[in-house]
Amino acid sequence: MTTTMKSLISSIAAASILIFTGCGENKKEEKTIVEKQADATGQFVLKFSHVVSSNTPKGKAADFFEQRLEELSKGRIDVQIYPSSQLYKDNAVLKAIKLDSVQMAAPSFSKFGKIVPQLALFDLPFLFKDMDHLHRVQDGAVGEKLKGMVTAKGYVALNFWDNHFKQLSSSKKPLIKPEDAVGQKFRIMSSKVLEAQFHAVGANPQMMPFSEVYSGLQQGVIDGQENTNSNIFTKKFHEVQKYLTVTNHGYLGYLVVMSQKFWDKLPADLQANVKQAINDATVKEREYAEELNTKQFNEIKAYAKKTGNLEIINLTAEQKDAWRQAVSKIYPDFYDNDKIGEELIKGALATE
Ligand code: LMR
Repeated sequence: MTTTMKSLISSIAAASILIFTGCGENKKEEKTIVEKQADATGQFVLKFSHVVSSNTPKGKAADFFEQRLEELSKGRIDVQIYPSSQLYKDNAVLKAIKLDSVQMAAPSFSKFGKIVPQLALFDLPFLFKDMDHLHRVQDGAVGEKLKGMVTAKGYVALNFWDNHFKQLSSSKKPLIKPEDAVGQKFRIMSSKVLEAQFHAVGANPQMMPFSEVYSGLQQGVIDGQENTNSNIFTKKFHEVQKYLTVTNHGYLGYLVVMSQKFWDKLPADLQANVKQAINDATVKEREYAEELNTKQFNEIKAYAKKTGNLEIINLTAEQKDAWRQAVSKIYPDFYDNDKIGEELIKGALATE
């Protein structure tokens, strides 16, 4: 749908709310009448909230999804994308989805910590050999089991989306050996696994919403952070760091979820359109993840060369192995089924 049509429809909806508020009707009545009007036009509004920039794998795939679903539904679903934490920060979006205040999101796995902590499987450092191995895990029995856990909590679990492998950065000291991290303050997402990962190397993990990382680094509240090249570049973290080490130590990805209430309201043909649009967007998303992480890493390298303000460190196989040894010893701490579960961890490792 064109932006003009979208704004026309929003104005009509806003005017309806104003009229009813003006008449002194109570909130409940207002809402029922506005909802009925939406039903009468046969139009559904689907708000999709995320925290990253539009020029990231998730941001581009969300935009692709918007276009595809509006085309497939012939405008009966109006998709509205809210990037860069405009609507909700980090895990706050999951509560909002439960209430149907927003209909869709693709939070990273750590952000499901209070709902399905087992999704932190994907945060375990050095668990996946490469992206193909990771996709086989997501597309196989382990992925299905995890989605089932999210469904059981009252969400519609759609597809897994990628960002990529994470890198480490610091403003304090080059990170070459695990001991270099000792005492440094690293921002982490809210995740027990990430907390354990940094404790394993004697560092000091600090939980912080994604939207606050840049200022945290700039003001020295934290010394360093871990994220993908795409997130580092689009949020300019590299401009407030002195050292970036290519570790690829952990994976960052997402589960796309939808409000169950919203899903139940949709007629079967529109549910089929949503499924088709999300499947098409997922194929594109994996391509964007590869393309953008490569391209944006090149941009970071160009910045480092031009300004001389950032040192990029490539580890030797031996150095990388030392990090692997230091952090992968945390796996058994998560064997308990309430944490992640031995079966899931071993299942992922054994996936061919
Ligand atoms: C983060 O908080 O670092 C990421 O989850 C942001 C994102 O959604 O990629």
